[in-house]
Amino acid sequence: MNKRTANSIKTKKSKVVMLTCYDYAFAHILDEAGVDILLVGDSMANVVLGLEETRKISIKEMLNHTKAVALGSKEAMVVGDMPYAAYQKNPKKCVYYAKKFIEAGADGVKIEWFKECKYVVKRLIKNKIPVMGHIGLTPQTAHLLGGFKVQGKTKKSALNLIKQAKILEDLGVFSLVLECIPHQLASHITKQLKIPTIGIGAGSGCRGQVLVLYDFLGLYKRIRPKFVRVYKDLSIQTSDAVRQFSNEINNGKFPNISESFSMDATQWRHLRKEL
Ligand code: KIV
Repeated sequence: MNKRTANSIKTKKSKVVMLTCYDYAFAHILDEAGVDILLVGDSMANVVLGLEETRKISIKEMLNHTKAVALGSKEAMVVGDMPYAAYQKNPKKCVYYAKKFIEAGADGVKIEWFKECKYVVKRLIKNKIPVMGHIGLTPQTAHLLGGFKVQGKTKKSALNLIKQAKILEDLGVFSLVLECIPHQLASHITKQLKIPTIGIGAGSGCRGQVLVLYDFLGLYKRIRPKFVRVYKDLSIQTSDAVRQFSNEINNGKFPNISESFSMDATQWRHLRKEL
């Protein structure tokens, strides 16, 4: 398999597999396991930094972690999630900050729908920056959507999402995240578009799926949305390992001799004479 690019994702015939990723070690594992896209998601604000809102994460934090993920991956496409401060706060600065993500090693950026989304996406694409769109439940502006609620449940709101999806495709995004929308609507949007849709809480009719890594591995316990499937609960494995570590320290079983360094016997004898 070769390095995934915006173009190879756009034309991929099989399903797109995306996971969020925030560091070098996991990037290496996910890349080797064949994940198509590593999204350095601003969900890092919640699951890594313990913040309540994704809007609170800084550009610097996102760039540092994008660098780490890019260093750990060879074949996956790395997408940097543009934080609120990098484009919604001042849309005129979007190209400046998107270029910082590319310099940090991202192969593209993700933009959530907001009132000036068209302006931002147009400018990024004009500057040859691959853009992934994101509609439905957009966490950076969840306060304007009535909170963390499923979107597109009424005719009016569903038509609005269909319109947003078409606008983004026409502007040239290479893929589109559909977050928390009814599965019927997600399938309809998917059929209307040529670019792949990547669903999270949007049913199986999308052309790809994404989950937040820390949800997928059972590491984040504060909220467990209905659409999350925990594939392996590393929180249980981690706490078992920690209990065993603690017992083995207490009963002298850790470390053993092969996990320790030793001194040459002659040197030790000479030293003992001085002690
Ligand atoms: O930040 C994130 O994790 C995301 C995904 C939910 C798509 O935007």
